[in-house]
Amino acid sequence: MDLKLKYAEKLIEVLQEPLPISDVYNLIETPKHSAHGDLAFPCFYLAKKVRKSPNMLAEQLAETLIDPLFTKVEAKGAYVNVFFSKMHISTTIITDIIEQKSRYGNSAIGENKTVVLDLSSPNIAKPFSMGHLRSTVIGNALANIAKKCGYKVVRINHVGDWGTQFGKLIIAYEKWGDFEKVKENPIQELFKLYITFHDEAEKTPSLEEEARRAFKLLEEGHQQYTELWEWFRSASLQMFLNIYQLLDIKFDSYHGEAFYNDKMEPVVNLLKENHLLEESDGAEVVRLDDLGLPPCLIKKKDGATLYATRDLAAALYRQETYQFDEALYIVGQEQSIHFQQVFAVLQKLGYKWAHHMKHIPFGLYLMNGKKMSSRKGHVVLLEEVLHEAIALAEKNIADRNPDITNKTEIAKAVGVGAIIFHDLKNERMNSISFSLQDMLTFEGDTGPYIQYTFARTQSILTKGKVTNDTFTGLDTEKSWEIIKLLQIFPKKIEKANEQCAPSVIAKYLLDLAKAFNQYYGKVKILHIDDDLHNRLSLVNAVAIVLAEGLSLLGIKAPKKM
Ligand code: ARG
Repeated sequence: MDLKLKYAEKLIEVLQEPLPISDVYNLIETPKHSAHGDLAFPCFYLAKKVRKSPNMLAEQLAETLIDPLFTKVEAKGAYVNVFFSKMHISTTIITDIIEQKSRYGNSAIGENKTVVLDLSSPNIAKPFSMGHLRSTVIGNALANIAKKCGYKVVRINHVGDWGTQFGKLIIAYEKWGDFEKVKENPIQELFKLYITFHDEAEKTPSLEEEARRAFKLLEEGHQQYTELWEWFRSASLQMFLNIYQLLDIKFDSYHGEAFYNDKMEPVVNLLKENHLLEESDGAEVVRLDDLGLPPCLIKKKDGATLYATRDLAAALYRQETYQFDEALYIVGQEQSIHFQQVFAVLQKLGYKWAHHMKHIPFGLYLMNGKKMSSRKGHVVLLEEVLHEAIALAEKNIADRNPDITNKTEIAKAVGVGAIIFHDLKNERMNSISFSLQDMLTFEGDTGPYIQYTFARTQSILTKGKVTNDTFTGLDTEKSWEIIKLLQIFPKKIEKANEQCAPSVIAKYLLDLAKAFNQYYGKVKILHIDDDLHNRLSLVNAVAIVLAEGLSLLGIKAPKKM
């Protein structure tokens, strides 16, 4: 139930001048002090229309606004302040949540629509970077949120498995590679070879030419090179799968860049037919000067295709395969020009759907205030970070709760959840500072804090034995904060979806957990009296919403920890 909407509906009935409900809705404010009411309607705008003084109008409205929904309606200056009947509201909301369970907050905004999300997309033979982690967890949360809003969602891992760097890697492997070592530790070894190549190429520039030729041969299907490439690819993917397993994230497609090898010629032809392709220094480009963008490179001098060419082919393929209504690319902000170019070229080709493609950028991870870079081998290996977080979580849990069963499973949920939450609580574009200790504390704005609060609801519910008594309302000041928060969960999901901002959900969960823990500190929930079953229903509703909110973010909610 949306209280703002309820208030707007009641107001509409008594307004002298007809206003669209959305206008009224948008005018309604939340008073700074709850003593002034739950919601307030400012009369300035309407007063102008009906040529009355705002204060007088407020008086009049307050007098006519009589409804069992409100326990008090009060004119304060130019505002009409209302106080809701806590009994009435709490009954509706708690009953709704308990009835709908995890379906509470579902909406039909995306009904019959498909959204494809391009997320994670790490590069073969390179470490899975913190940037890829951000893309993975943000993208996964956005997919969950879209699904809750009724969309059909498709998660695509556009693996970076093609491009000139594979020429370099092949040459480096031929010159300095060691089969056993690569087999043992593919990503680290291949990445080392890649770095060696760059160091050597500084001394021997002809290596660059060799690598270019090797990539050209690879593109033409050279057998031995193809076999090497396939090996690099599958060995790297295996490592990435370990990470996805820890994060418990699945993709609908792993079609990476190489998948589009035979799908680029049609794109090039299409560009030619539309007279969009121009020559520039031997290369072929689409000029985007009219949009103030640098030209989009389609083919290099030697005929080799580029990252953008593959993204164009991928967009066409995805539209044909999924008929998407929206396409989101969750990729770091440093690629913003690239996506502007790709979308612009598709729009120039006349595709209407290209107007529904969006780049969803995000900020960097910082370590001691500096960018965490994978350059020159200063890599932070994500898999190690995850395992470290799990180990630390296990220690924390063992300290607090030595006899707990399933310790490993719970530690995994807490350690991984901590990392995901630490990312998602930040606004997408902000940089994040990396500190495992901060992520894993049970107090403060962390994932474990919310999981711990959920576990607390579970232990209360086990002790209190929930009955089937229907909820008959709670009329206490102490539970009111919680009720108000539970009530806005559906709105928060909509907002998170609209703004592609999982942080909206993360912050909401922190508010709800804090409100609940305050309640827990003040009220003897399990005290035996007539309201016991009502309080337990409230706890149950909080538990449902906490678990559902966490699951939207891709975080598990263990019953004990
Ligand atoms: N592999 C790329 C990188 O790591 C990201 C790919 C993003 N997706 C896309 N369709 N371009 O930088």
